[in-house]
Amino acid sequence: MTIDVARSIPEIRNIVAKAKQDGQTVGLVPTMGGLHAGHISLIEHAGSLCDHVVVSVFVNPTQFNRKEDFENYPGNEAEDLKVLSGTCTNSVFAPSATEVYPEGFATSVTVSTGDKILCDAHRPGHFDGVATVVTKLFLQTGADIACFGEKDYQQLFIVKRLVADLNIPLRIEPVPTVRETDGLALSSRNARLTPEERLLAPRLHRALEQVADAVRGGEAASLAIAKAQTWLESDNRFDVEYLEMRSGKTLEILERHDEQDEPRVFIAANLGKVRLIDNIGV
Ligand code: PAF
Repeated sequence: MTIDVARSIPEIRNIVAKAKQDGQTVGLVPTMGGLHAGHISLIEHAGSLCDHVVVSVFVNPTQFNRKEDFENYPGNEAEDLKVLSGTCTNSVFAPSATEVYPEGFATSVTVSTGDKILCDAHRPGHFDGVATVVTKLFLQTGADIACFGEKDYQQLFIVKRLVADLNIPLRIEPVPTVRETDGLALSSRNARLTPEERLLAPRLHRALEQVADAVRGGEAASLAIAKAQTWLESDNRFDVEYLEMRSGKTLEILERHDEQDEPRVFIAANLGKVRLIDNIGV
């Protein structure tokens, strides 16, 4: 299948308008490139729900609070287009930074979800950058649905909030995390792990499982977390930013397991130069 590549907002609007004139529903999968099987599952999910799938590929500078992270973000458009050609993608929106943020751009979307928690506490401005760019992508494409991975659960939570608050006529579709066979959640950042770090990286998921098993068995979250964090940091390779159990519905901190709260365990940790995040439902 040939994939149309739109570089400008009028181009992507035309493509979507034509699809809609033909009575098609449109699904958006926002990405920053570096495509892997996790993205493909988002695309397949969009394809199972919609007639026309738009994949956006844009490394959004405003969501990086560390310049080094932005500069090292793995991106290769030719490679991404090759990956997409084997999927149900119908069109790609790959704008330049100036198309998205022209001179004089002065608007920022902030979702005020209360206290700074999880990644919001450690990456100042990150979610404003995400909220701003996804709002633009939703308005630029006019898609009917947009798919987001549960791996970035806080992002999914914030995006759902902004769509509801701004009455954007689009449905957010959560898609489960895709994992390697050893449990490591797929992420474009995994490509930056050294071979030795790659062998250690699945411990992140194991730490989540340790907490989940313990709290399911009745242990208090704070105790289970202290044990899992000590285990994870024991050989001084991981530096844990946070390890917490929170409600999947409200993101409020939880001390005891109660299914009604839809508990999830969340972690972010640095392994060498790579910051990894993950979460699981308990
Ligand atoms: O999850 C990502 O890859 C990015 O945060 C997103 C949603 C594409 C916005 O730049």
